[in-house]
Amino acid sequence: MKTLIIVAHPNIKDSKVNKRWIEELQKYPETFYVHQLHEVYPNEEIDVPAEQELIEKYDKIVFQFPYYWFNCPPFLKKWFDEVLTYGWAYGSKSGYKVGGKKIALAVSAGIDENEYHPTGKYKYTLEELLRPFELTFEYIKADYRPFFAYYGIELNSSKEWIEKSVPKYLDFLNSF
Ligand SMILES: Cc1cc2nc3c(=O)[nH]c(=O)nc-3n(C[C@H](O)[C@H](O)[C@H](O)COP(=O)(O)O)c2cc1C
Repeated sequence: MKTLIIVAHPNIKDSKVNKRWIEELQKYPETFYVHQLHEVYPNEEIDVPAEQELIEKYDKIVFQFPYYWFNCPPFLKKWFDEVLTYGWAYGSKSGYKVGGKKIALAVSAGIDENEYHPTGKYKYTLEELLRPFELTFEYIKADYRPFFAYYGIELNSSKEWIEKSVPKYLDFLNSF
């Protein structure tokens, strides 16, 4: 069973890590289907039935995005608002279409991991900061799994640091 990777990066052409991850995942089309929201919807007008149909085909779904202002990029929030509808995602007997599906986040962060800590500059762990996603997926009865994160890209965006993330991300996906 393939994993659906939904990518939300508003500026993929200047991306270092997300672009590299996509390039790697696309080498394994029998294992991963990469759905780049900004590429599919350049004007950000989401075809909601098409997105729901896509989700229904997969049991394992990963949302991959760069962490922006302690949140996901806005187009992904719009995707949640529009695609996770009443009657489909939750709230009626015909709903909960995402229920039971394994869901995880794959996040790239500019800030170092040590700073996402009670004694660090940003006080909270990424696990804590990602709680709204955890609750959203619990609300719709999905099987929310631990996330993958790669930190410190603003401090070190060298080819070595980016390349180091690739096997880590693949290992995460392969054991997801
Ligand atoms: C608008 C904006 C907001 C950002 N906010 C954060 C943030 O809140 N926390 C953080 O760790 N990094 C933040 N960053 C850094 C990005 O997370 C980082 O550049 C990105 O994950 C690198 O991935 P990419 O090479 O695929 O673009 C921000 C970057 C931008 C452009």
